[in-house]
Amino acid sequence: MFNIVIFGAPGSGKGTQSDLIIDKYKLIHLSTGDLLRKEKNSGTELGKQIKEIIDKGNLVPNEMIQKMVRKFITDNKNCNGFIFDGFPRTTAQAQWLDQMLDEINTKITLMLTLDVDEEELKKRIMLRGKVSGRADDANEQIVENRIKVYKKQTAPVMDYYKQQNKFYIVNGTGELNDVFDRVCLTLNKLKN
Ligand code: AP5
Ligand code: MG
Repeated sequence: MFNIVIFGAPGSGKGTQSDLIIDKYKLIHLSTGDLLRKEKNSGTELGKQIKEIIDKGNLVPNEMIQKMVRKFITDNKNCNGFIFDGFPRTTAQAQWLDQMLDEINTKITLMLTLDVDEEELKKRIMLRGKVSGRADDANEQIVENRIKVYKKQTAPVMDYYKQQNKFYIVNGTGELNDVFDRVCLTLNKLKN
């Protein structure tokens, strides 16, 4: 399997590039943010708990994420590979993912980080906030909190993959297709 962790700060383009990658490399897209928003909109008790957390830009507890991801991986375990978007978001999640993949005899091939500066991140998210309907896009303080949470709790995940020699970084600014070309250059080197 070809398993990619697509990584980067909020607004760095993980979802946008994932859509292009799954098409070209025939992978399955696992976005924990998308799964959480689906649950949130379903109006269940769990959905209400999730809303409380994500609308403030904080992280949902690991147990909730692990349950969701386990089901998703198990349901799709015969695919060509996964692209993990927005997950793992903590080192504990990264360790757990390695164990989970081991159960189905596969592993992460690489982590690909999209590098975008903070001003550009805020600009992109605030622009999308005008139309996305995402409560966490609409307010500058919440966007700033998301970036703060990323720096503190999520950025250390890069070290986890650096230690495994699986860390790659590309410039995530510029035209969407130019970013995709850079992404493909890296992926093609590692795809067998
Ligand atoms: P999640 O949905 O993962 O959101 P995020 O990481 O904050 O990032 P975004 O989805 O907003 O940005 P993106 O990097 O995908 O960029 P995109 O392609 O959309 O998580 C949401 C929340 O869920 C979290 O805050 C947390 O509460 C919870 N959560 C999720 N996973 C969790 C986990 N594992 N553990 C705990 N909690 C979790 O692009 C952004 C915008 O920029 C778009 O409008 C796009 O059109 C535009 N754009 C893209 N590329 C370019 C470009 N090259 N030039 C100009 N504009 C561009
Ligand atoms: Mg996204």
